[in-house]
Amino acid sequence: MNFKKELAEVLHQALEGELASQNIEQLIEKPKNQDHGDLAFPCFSLAKLKRKAPNLIAQELSEKIQSPTFEKIEVVGAYLNVFLNKKLVAEQIINNIINEKGQYGAHDFGQGGNVTIDMSSPNIAKPFSMGHLRSTVIGNAIALILEKCGYKPIKINHLGDWGTQFGKLISAYKRWGDEEKVKANPIKELLALYIKFHAEAETNPALEDEGRGWFKKLEDGDQEAHSLWQWFRDESLKEFSRIYQLMNVEFDSYAGEAFYNDKMDRVVQLLEEKQLLVESDQAQVVELTEEELPPCLIKKSDGATLYATRDLAAAIYRKENYDFVQSLYVVGHEQSLHFKQLIAVLNKAGFEWADKMVHIPFGMMLKDGKKMSTRKGKVVLLEEVLNESIAMARHNIEEKNPNLADKDGVAKQVGVGAVIFHDLKNNRMNDIEFSLEEMLRFEGETGPYVQYTFARASSILRKAGWKAETALAAVYQTTWENEWKVISMLMEFSNAIKRACENYDPSQVAKYIVDLAQVFNKYYAEVKVLEESEEQNARLALVYSVTIVLKEGLRLLGIEAPEEM
Ligand code: ARG
Repeated sequence: MNFKKELAEVLHQALEGELASQNIEQLIEKPKNQDHGDLAFPCFSLAKLKRKAPNLIAQELSEKIQSPTFEKIEVVGAYLNVFLNKKLVAEQIINNIINEKGQYGAHDFGQGGNVTIDMSSPNIAKPFSMGHLRSTVIGNAIALILEKCGYKPIKINHLGDWGTQFGKLISAYKRWGDEEKVKANPIKELLALYIKFHAEAETNPALEDEGRGWFKKLEDGDQEAHSLWQWFRDESLKEFSRIYQLMNVEFDSYAGEAFYNDKMDRVVQLLEEKQLLVESDQAQVVELTEEELPPCLIKKSDGATLYATRDLAAAIYRKENYDFVQSLYVVGHEQSLHFKQLIAVLNKAGFEWADKMVHIPFGMMLKDGKKMSTRKGKVVLLEEVLNESIAMARHNIEEKNPNLADKDGVAKQVGVGAVIFHDLKNNRMNDIEFSLEEMLRFEGETGPYVQYTFARASSILRKAGWKAETALAAVYQTTWENEWKVISMLMEFSNAIKRACENYDPSQVAKYIVDLAQVFNKYYAEVKVLEESEEQNARLALVYSVTIVLKEGLRLLGIEAPEEM
């Protein structure tokens, strides 16, 4: 069903093998304006090759092409504008969608290869930030898209659950902590203790040593330190998992930084053996001068390991445990340097797989043009955002469709979907201006707009009592003229998925489903689908195909599609 390929093959034959069909395929374009055809082939490179005027070549080629798939060929200057046989192509596509359903648009180039995705990865005892929300949403969509392309995604929540700050937290809790308060409101309380610790340490520098001491104990496996840490971690995870549940995100592993505690000696040893460790200011570092990067700090003067050390251990562990073909890190662009250093150190240590590691950065979430931060006190901000969005969606339902059956369920699907779509619709590197009103609009490029289009199309099918099983025969009754714009969008689905996969860019899918929803809504406004006619069954088959693709597109972004809303 790849018509580009088919055209390339036909041209290849018409050219009697003068140009490899792969090269031809790369030259084939998709005209911006569909009135200029469905595909276009520019003859400039051929003109150079054959030393002949490009428009003459175009003319000659047009006369040689004979294929049922391509019903009309126009020569415009140096271009060959090719029109697909609408009936034939439409029938093929609709048939495919009806047969393949949710499988439509899939690829198999991933060949079952494991891809680890480091995503979400919040720091325990701290509020879940907007950055972590972005990482969760983007990582989840990338995982779904990779899976659609035949990879096996492994979602890893690399929790920030280790480091000197936990020594400080233990020390603060021992001094001022209250078990009941922490239990009632863990993240808020722990954060308050941490802040108090820093304030007190300003005038009492001995506290810093005490904190470091507790972390040392923790690293050495001290019972008391460990059980306090475990408790902080459990309580934090309870809060985080409420957010994950709201968003329907699950992980294959919660192996966070602490998990690598017993795997760090090996890393340090390995770097020593390769003679990469040097002393600098009493600390152990790997110099990265050739790579034009600052040195990577591996071990502090007191022997404590660092964020980077733990990431080195994690990278090696992931290779050994999952034998990944790619290892992705969905982390904000502030950490670009860290990942460059990480990859550089592993390269220096001779791990060829280091260049299968990819940092997938993203921009910031802004509110009124400023970075959105989770300030003191405002700790459940993120859950608040989701809940507010759900409440607003609930309110919309009450206004627009008060008789809807499962109002709460749908409000959740729409409210959460809106937040996710808003995050994914732009290139991930862009900063995003946060606006709930904007997210929840039913028009324009929003999640609810796509969901609403899906629900509307589903209701058309319900009203018509249409069944997919009886549809196949019906497909052959129309010319598909009016339907063509929708059909050619449906045809593009697998390309959008491929682009999204290759560039780790879910916005390709988000933009695609908005475009599909738009052409479909236009079609629906012009053509009376529910009116009895000879073509009704074929039209309903098209509506059905649109529902399949919209639903699958939303699913790939991690968004649900209510049948009614
Ligand atoms: N916990 C870190 C933070 O909040 C993000 C961890 C990203 N993943 C990693 N393997 N370093 O900044």
